[in-house]
Amino acid sequence: MTRAASKATIATSLENGPAPRTLAALNALMAAAAPFVQGSPRAVLGEGQLHPDLAFVGEQPGDQEDREGHPFVGPAGQILDRALHDAGIDRRKCFVTNAVKHFKFVPRGKFRLHQKPTTPEIRACRPWYERELAAIKPALVVAMGATAAQSVFGKITPIGKNRGHLIDLEEAGNETKALVTVHPSYLLRLPDEESKAREYANFVKDMKIAAAFLHKLKAA
Ligand code: URA
Repeated sequence: MTRAASKATIATSLENGPAPRTLAALNALMAAAAPFVQGSPRAVLGEGQLHPDLAFVGEQPGDQEDREGHPFVGPAGQILDRALHDAGIDRRKCFVTNAVKHFKFVPRGKFRLHQKPTTPEIRACRPWYERELAAIKPALVVAMGATAAQSVFGKITPIGKNRGHLIDLEEAGNETKALVTVHPSYLLRLPDEESKAREYANFVKDMKIAAAFLHKLKAA
C-alpha cells in the first residue's frame, strides 16, 4: 500500500463515513484500516477504562505489543507499570494508547527493528487519537515521549521544556489537562545504572504529579 493510498484510507474511514459514535465503533474502523506506517498490518488499539481520570499515550506498539495485540506489554510497559505502582496509580483504572496504532519496523534477519514515525505519519494518524480522546474523555492525558507529545498537542512539543507541570488542552474543548514526560523506553536506553536510577526517579516524579492531580479531583 502506498503512502497516498493509506492516507486516503484514513481520510475515507473517518471523514466520509458516519462518525464513529462509540469507542467500539472507532476501534472497528481502526482495526480494519490500512496502516499508515510501513510495518505490521495489525492495529494495536488503546485499552482500559472508559472515561478514566488518566490516559497514557505512547509512541507506537513495539515488537511484543504487535505480537500480543495489546499496548505497553513489553519492556517499556514493564517500566511504565513499575513507575505507576511507585506513584500509587492503578493502571487498570486508566486508559493506555499510542499516537500511532501500528508497529513501524524494518526487518533485519530474524529481528524487526523499530523505526520512529515521521511527522507526516504522526499527523496522518492523529485523527485516530483525536477520536479516541473524544470517546474516552479523560481528565488528564499523560504524553510519554516526543511522538506522543506531538500528537497530544498537535505540534512539536519539546519534552524538556514542557515536562513536569499540568498544561490545559485547549483543543479538547473541556477541562482536560495534559502532562508531558519522557517515554519509558528512553529509560531502557540509558547507558549506566546511575543515569537509569536518576531518570527513573524523575519519571516517577512526573507520575506523582498525575497522582496528586487525581487526589485533588477526588477531593473536589
Ligand atoms: N512503546 C510505545 O510507545 N507503546 C507501546 O505500546 C509499547 C512500547
